[in-house]
Amino acid sequence: MQNQKVLILDFGGQYNQLIARRVRECNVYCEVKPFDMSLEEIRAYDPLGIIFTGGPNSVYAPDSPHPDPGVYSLGVPILGICYGCQLLSHELGGLVTAAQDDSAREYGKTQTWFDTSCALFRGLPESSVTWMSHGDYMARVPEGFRLSAHSQACPTVGICDEKRKFYGVQFHPEVNHTEYGKQMLRNFLYEICGAVGDWTMADYKRRAIEEIRAKVGEGKVLLALSGGVDSSVAAALLAEAVGSQLTCVFVDHGLMRKNEGDEVEQAFAKWDINLIRCNEEQRFLTALAGVEEPEHKRKIIGEEFIRVFEREGKKIGSVDYLAQGTIYPDVIESGKGDAAVIKSHHNVGGLPDFVDFKEIIEPLRMLFKDEVRQLGRELGLPEYLVMRQPFPGPGLGIRVIGELTREKLDLLREADAIFREEVAAAGLDQVLNQYFAALTNMRSVGVMGDGRTYDYAIALRAVETSDFMTADWARIPYDVLDRVSVRIVNEVRGVNRVLYDVTAKPPATIEFE
Ligand code: XMP
Repeated sequence: MQNQKVLILDFGGQYNQLIARRVRECNVYCEVKPFDMSLEEIRAYDPLGIIFTGGPNSVYAPDSPHPDPGVYSLGVPILGICYGCQLLSHELGGLVTAAQDDSAREYGKTQTWFDTSCALFRGLPESSVTWMSHGDYMARVPEGFRLSAHSQACPTVGICDEKRKFYGVQFHPEVNHTEYGKQMLRNFLYEICGAVGDWTMADYKRRAIEEIRAKVGEGKVLLALSGGVDSSVAAALLAEAVGSQLTCVFVDHGLMRKNEGDEVEQAFAKWDINLIRCNEEQRFLTALAGVEEPEHKRKIIGEEFIRVFEREGKKIGSVDYLAQGTIYPDVIESGKGDAAVIKSHHNVGGLPDFVDFKEIIEPLRMLFKDEVRQLGRELGLPEYLVMRQPFPGPGLGIRVIGELTREKLDLLREADAIFREEVAAAGLDQVLNQYFAALTNMRSVGVMGDGRTYDYAIALRAVETSDFMTADWARIPYDVLDRVSVRIVNEVRGVNRVLYDVTAKPPATIEFE
């Protein structure tokens, strides 16, 4: 049996993935598709409801994106958000104009009043805060529609045609700043579209396993296991589905955090799969000897990784399927141009074309990160693996600033482990999105006991972010920083100074290299 599906038509807004995540959090499956999806495709998709996202354009501009006009005759409920709301209005006979004076333009948190007899706002307070970001406004609403929300500056914040089940809001219900946004989406899904809430990870696991078995049959599957959340969950799912037909190659490049390699190995001990762990520290360190420049390091690590994988691939011979831990955010086309490449991200698990395989399997391709973690739990992976923070493919190779040596790596591993321990002890591991220690290439003078020291400085970095494109430095309590600092200088030989990075991204990046 198929899940009920909601279709999100993407008009290029910045929160589009967030809408999809919120819908899925309501236990309703949805997908983000380009706005110009054809009517036949939409029909074939058979959506329970359609959401039009926001977007940067003005609906009356000549080249603005529009959906196939047939979408309004499908008899399927539509929710338009921001630009999507203006589309509904513009295309169904209303009038959208540029806000004449600045007061009708709205940006940020805005007190909003709702007509709670409208199904979208049913059961919610009559007034609450919403997150606005629009320069256009609806001067006249289309026939059949009525107003359902307003703010002080704008009389047309919400519109609805309950007969046709078309609803529009100028604000963004998907962002947390909109106090009751999630309930509004829930109302759209359950009250208006008639969702039953059939999207759960337990269910997904069962179906995915059936599908994998049906597809793979007696075939052989190969997967590059990095120890990150995505490849680990993909491996666990395949292990559950096809057991010994699965071979995982885990390249330990010696740039892992403390105990990480062993933890990954242990996590998979309960499955009867072929796990090949290649301990290649020496190879990587030799290739990296004397190299200081970050992009050069990344390139070498990427290349060596591929070489090791290639060697193992040859030993294994031909396989039927190459599995990858690609997840949904990697798949969604935003419709926007590529952002400038600031750092070349070497993602372990890239496509090796030298392994002889027939087909690729990407069992997490439609899942968001939160869902991947939930699936990992369903599969019985340990919490430390499932909740693992992002860790760059080149590992500690880009956290030891400048030239790499085994000694420096060991020193960093110890300092980083202390930082992680103290962060967890303070309960901050659930709050911080990424935190780690880096070893600077600066040595400075200190005093220990009666003696002068001339040792390295460790830099601590902790950030809060939702997308890793921008980030703020985390306000870790001073006493936690103090405990970390005292422990590092006492327990890690060769370090006499601990620094905390108080720079946001931009202008800094999250990693130091
Ligand atoms: P930056 O440093 O660019 O990092 O602000 C953003 C996020 O990406 C991770 N990162 C990498 N991930 N290969 C990866 O797989 C890389 O080379 C790489 N460099 C940075 C970083 O840890 C952060 O989560």
